[in-house]
Amino acid sequence: MFAKFIIYLYIHGGANAKPKILKMSNNKIILLGVTGSIAAYKACDLIRQLVKNDCDVHVIMTRNAAKLVTPLTFKTLSKNPVSIDLFTETAEWRPEHISLAERGDLMVIAPATANIIAKIAYGIADDALSATALAFNGMKIIAPSMNTAMLGNPVTQENISILRQRNFMIIDPENGELACGKVGTGRLAPVEQIVNKIQNSLK
Ligand SMILES: Cc1cc2nc3c(=O)[nH]c(=O)nc-3n(C[C@H](O)[C@H](O)[C@H](O)COP(=O)(O)O)c2cc1C
Repeated sequence: MFAKFIIYLYIHGGANAKPKILKMSNNKIILLGVTGSIAAYKACDLIRQLVKNDCDVHVIMTRNAAKLVTPLTFKTLSKNPVSIDLFTETAEWRPEHISLAERGDLMVIAPATANIIAKIAYGIADDALSATALAFNGMKIIAPSMNTAMLGNPVTQENISILRQRNFMIIDPENGELACGKVGTGRLAPVEQIVNKIQNSLK
């Protein structure tokens, strides 16, 4: 009986089991926005999980994100060029933010800073990521990550609720230890949770 219980826990996971990543079988194009949050390194794992699940990942990062993680890392993990500068010439005749926005099946911004959330809420399109977000008509998922005070600021809360009203899916940040040394709400949601939300949205 006890042995059966152990086998059950092994298969289904105990109370502390991490959410399992469901297998995606598609070749969907995911536009992954990465912004200047300390959690930018977690986007590396997100890319790996998506690539393992046969997704074609195109990273669009902000200049501030590039100060935290190199574009070369994202390029190597995603096996695709990384977009940072709106005005870089590419082989395509169309501006890159438009061509990516037209080709993408889903856009996810993880981690999303307070800054990008505010820019998207107000239609600002002054860099590659915000311009692509404005041009993209499909499903958009935002995973905020920031210090508790930035998250709790009424202006950030108002911006998040503007995005919810416009059918953006918000993956709420977690409570836990933050990079600023404090404990509170603002940690990026677990990568497994983000992958599962992407998978469910692509069904
Ligand atoms: C080391 C470091 C970590 C940061 N982490 C965050 C963060 O987790 N969330 C956030 O909203 N801003 C964070 N910031 C501030 C943003 O980088 C800043 O607001 C920046 O303008 C965001 O630009 P972007 O949205 O274009 O990437 C951080 C700044 C530094 C220097």
